[in-house]
Parts: sequence; structure tokens; C-alpha cells
Amino acid sequence: MRRLFPVTPVTDQTAGPGSDGADREWSLAELAAAYAYPEPAGGSGAWLRANMVSTLDGAAQHDGRSQPISSAADMRVFGTLRALADVVVAGAETVRQEGYRPARSRAEFAELRRAAGQRPAPAIAVVSASLELDFSLPLFTSPLVPTLVLTGAAAAPDRMAAAEKAGARVVIAGDGVGVDPARAVDALVALGHTRLLTEGGPRLLGQFVTAGVLDELCLTVSPMLTAGDAQRIAGGPSVEVPRRFALASLLEEEGFLFGRYRRD
Ligand SMILES: NC(=O)c1ccc[n+]([C@@H]2O[C@H](COP(=O)([O-])OP(=O)(O)OC[C@H]3O[C@@H](n4cnc5c(N)ncnc54)[C@H](OP(=O)(O)O)[C@@H]3O)[C@@H](O)[C@H]2O)c1
Repeated sequence: MRRLFPVTPVTDQTAGPGSDGADREWSLAELAAAYAYPEPAGGSGAWLRANMVSTLDGAAQHDGRSQPISSAADMRVFGTLRALADVVVAGAETVRQEGYRPARSRAEFAELRRAAGQRPAPAIAVVSASLELDFSLPLFTSPLVPTLVLTGAAAAPDRMAAAEKAGARVVIAGDGVGVDPARAVDALVALGHTRLLTEGGPRLLGQFVTAGVLDELCLTVSPMLTAGDAQRIAGGPSVEVPRRFALASLLEEEGFLFGRYRRD
């Protein structure tokens, strides 16, 4: 891993083999420092970050999964971002397709989480209107931290009851069957979660973008081309005016680029 941006005396390769600019294996602690959430600044103090991977031609999946377009370094960043988060928000289709399991507690991050006042692992929050989820899965029955199910007030009561019976906590964040993305953020903050991470998928991320509540995008650009008609990282109705984000940092490993973009 090496840092390409910002270029500073520490990232400059000529600063020596231990510098950020030299290609070397980064420890998880270094990655965690590079991706630290900003200090709470006014308002709710919440920060919504998305983590997504895309191919060069914009595909967000191959054969219905993101794993074929990912890499070992991408998975290290993925794990680090989870380890920094209070809660991981995912659309139900991603949960179904990627076979989500509960987030685990990792010894490497235990002290960091304890010092930040966080539980040993982030909660997973599944966004669903249909509640067509298999509530017998470990994601719902045996997480370290109860899984949240974000849905609308008009969602099927029997499915809500099934979620709660399995051990999940149902959180209402919309008046109809669906979730209002801004209300979802507010509901998570009300539960004490401020370091928010969404792992998509594209249909959910598109709604956070159009609602104007996305603060940061961590984007892995995978050096692959797939053609075809895969979804791109954000879908759904387009915004009226393109949202401008600013590059905060850019890391590279084996041709994979790890950008961090913040709302401008
Ligand atoms: N490249 C990447 O980084 C990345 C990341 C994540 C996923 N993916 C890929 O993306 C694909 C899945 O993504 P997707 O975009 O099709 O689906 P998604 O966003 O993961 O999930 C869509 C589902 O989420 C629920 N949902 C979304 N918005 C909602 C709202 N406002 N209110 C209530 N429920 C809402 C609905 O669930 P119900 O149907 O239950 O109502 C909807 O069908 C998979 O192939 C996955 O591998 C790629």
C-alpha cells in the first residue's frame, strides 16, 4: 500500500522506506488512522460514509457479487472501515445476495473501539420494505450487537414481529412501507450511532446521494473491465445537479486505487 495523495513530505517516496509514499504493507492501525472518522463537528455529529468498489468501466458487481472485482487489500480496507463504524447500513438485496453475517469482533481493533466508546463490533442495519429476509440466519439470531431492521411504518406487521422474535430490533424510519433515507440517518443517531457506514448496494446508496445525506465516499477502483450491464455504485433517480465531492486521500496497492472523497 502506498499513498498517492495528498503529497506531503511524509508521502514523498524519497522520504525513505517507512514513508507513506513507499510501497509497503500497512498495519491495520495505520489503515485505521488513515480512515479515522472526523471529530464530531456541530449538529448531530453524525457522519455517513459509503464504501463501494467499482471496475474501471463502472460495474459494481460481477455475477451478482462484489467479491470478483475486489482484492485482498480492498478487503483489508473493507474490514478497517467496519471496525471504525458504530453501524453498517446495507440494503436488503445486498444482504440477501452477499449472504451477510453478523460483524465480528476483531482483536486488532478491540482497544481502538473500547477507547472510542464503541461496542466490540458494529451493528448491522438492514434496510427493507418487504421484510423478505430469512430471520433464522445468524445475522438476526446471534450477532454480537443486535441487528437493526430499518423499515417503514406500513411494513407487514407479521414480518416485523418475526424480525423481533428472532432478536432483531425493528426501527421505523418512514411513513409508508419504505424508509426515508434522511430519517434513517436520524433514527440511527437517536440510537446513539454517529459513525455511520453504508456498504450499499447501489439502489440504497443512490437514495442517500439524492437525499443529500452522504458525507463521504470511500471508493475502490478495481483495475478490471467487465463490460455487460452490471449496476454502477449508485442507482435510482438521478440528482438534478451533480453533487461535487473533493478528494481527501488516495492510496494504491497492486493497481487498486482507494479514494476517499468528502462532500465539498
Ligand atoms: N460494488 C460494491 O461495492 C457493492 C456494494 C454492495 C452491493 N453490491 C452489489 O449490488 C447488488 C445489490 O444491490 P441493489 O442495489 O440491487 O440492492 P440494495 O440497495 O442492496 O437493496 C435494495 C433493497 O433494499 C431495500 N431498500 C432500498 N431502499 C429502500 C427504502 N428506501 N426503503 C425500504 N427498503 C429499501 C429493498 O429491500 P426489500 O426488497 O426487502 O424491500 C430493496 O429491494 C448485489 O449484486 C451486490 O453484490 C456491490
